[in-house]
Amino acid sequence: MRTQVGIIGAGPAGLLLSHLLHLRGISSVVLERRSRAYVEQRVRAGVLEQGTVDTLIASGVGDRLQREGLLHHGIELRYGGAGHRIAFEKLVPGRAITVYGQQEVVKDLIAARLAAGGDIRFEIDDVAVHSLENDPYLTFGGERLDCDVIAGCDGFHGISRPTIPDGVLTTYERDYPFAWLGILARVAPSSEELIYARNERGFALHSMRSPVISRFYLQVPPDAELGDWPDERIWAELAARLETVPGFTLSTGEIIERGVTPMRSFVAEPMQYGRLYLAGDAAHIVPPTGAKGLNLAVADVRVLTEALAAYFADGSAAALDAYSETCLTRVWRAQHFSWWMTTLLHTFDSDDAYGRKLQTSYLDYVTTSEAAATTLAENYVGLPFSA
Ligand code: APR
Ligand code: PHB
Repeated sequence: MRTQVGIIGAGPAGLLLSHLLHLRGISSVVLERRSRAYVEQRVRAGVLEQGTVDTLIASGVGDRLQREGLLHHGIELRYGGAGHRIAFEKLVPGRAITVYGQQEVVKDLIAARLAAGGDIRFEIDDVAVHSLENDPYLTFGGERLDCDVIAGCDGFHGISRPTIPDGVLTTYERDYPFAWLGILARVAPSSEELIYARNERGFALHSMRSPVISRFYLQVPPDAELGDWPDERIWAELAARLETVPGFTLSTGEIIERGVTPMRSFVAEPMQYGRLYLAGDAAHIVPPTGAKGLNLAVADVRVLTEALAAYFADGSAAALDAYSETCLTRVWRAQHFSWWMTTLLHTFDSDDAYGRKLQTSYLDYVTTSEAAATTLAENYVGLPFSA
């Protein structure tokens, strides 16, 4: 078998890449370890930047997103007994976010690829990458797939990044002393916009998926186990951390999904080696505060698509050679933003009174200075893509 681009992983990165390449007349095969049902149901973050929405609409996969996505023009920062709105319409006019689950994006992309005759193979758990320097190929299930290039879109735990020889990559990492317990609940949101709450008990986030489904997160210890978090404890903790402003009551409902997400910042540089290009979580991850993960994957894939289109049009490799360098500017901006939002809102060492004072000082600054609020807003809605 032969294809132009062999893609490992059917997350948002791999699927969008396959879709955008198809629109440019470039062939690809996507190899995914999990089942279709699994990837379509995997609950992840749900905040799309303006540029992500624009990319999906412009490439013809934005119909359901435009119908069902919730357009938000602000977020609330809640701390010290008060809520403070970061008003996108005033601070970054014309830019907003859309709340739409990541797995809905995945469903829409799979449907579009299959409708166009795309080749996505699920439940392939033995992909191996060969000959990265020249004439690369993939093997799986006793078959061989020759490719011009390989795209490693297989997430943080995938196999493509580890196939790069030792000594090539430099990695940068930060661990956080907590995790997020996330739930999806059958209950109308208690707020029209997302609430990021700093609380002595730990951070809490109120998000949503639809007028009848809410999404919540609680800062928990890094080794938290779901068994220690029965429904009553989750709701009581959410109420304790969110019901801190007069007149706000948290509505509760049936919990329909739950999970614990570790928090980590990670970047591997360069995001390429030989004929292998890494995109999305395979190359970098951010803590979910600020919801940049999916949006960064989309940004990488846009750059890779343009570079591959130039390469397959006339053999020019300049953009491909510069792929990592082009992506990393945005990657590091999002790394900083996600680290900063995390640092601003979570409870670290409870003995660190000085750190707590710094947090309060910065929160006060962000909620009273238009310049500081604009910094948050323009990063949150996402910086524009370069031309
Ligand atoms: N072979 C084939 N597929 C694999 C392998 C493998 N060895 N290892 C992992 N995969 C698949 C995973 O099952 C998953 O479907 O690669 C896919 C990677 O998808 P994501 O983890 O969703 O990563 P990405 O597409 O880069 O999207 C980034 O995902 O983790 C979130 O917060 C992150 O929202 C961001 C987004
Ligand atoms: C979500 O809705 O899942 C979500 C929203 C905002 C975040 C992270 C996750 O910062």
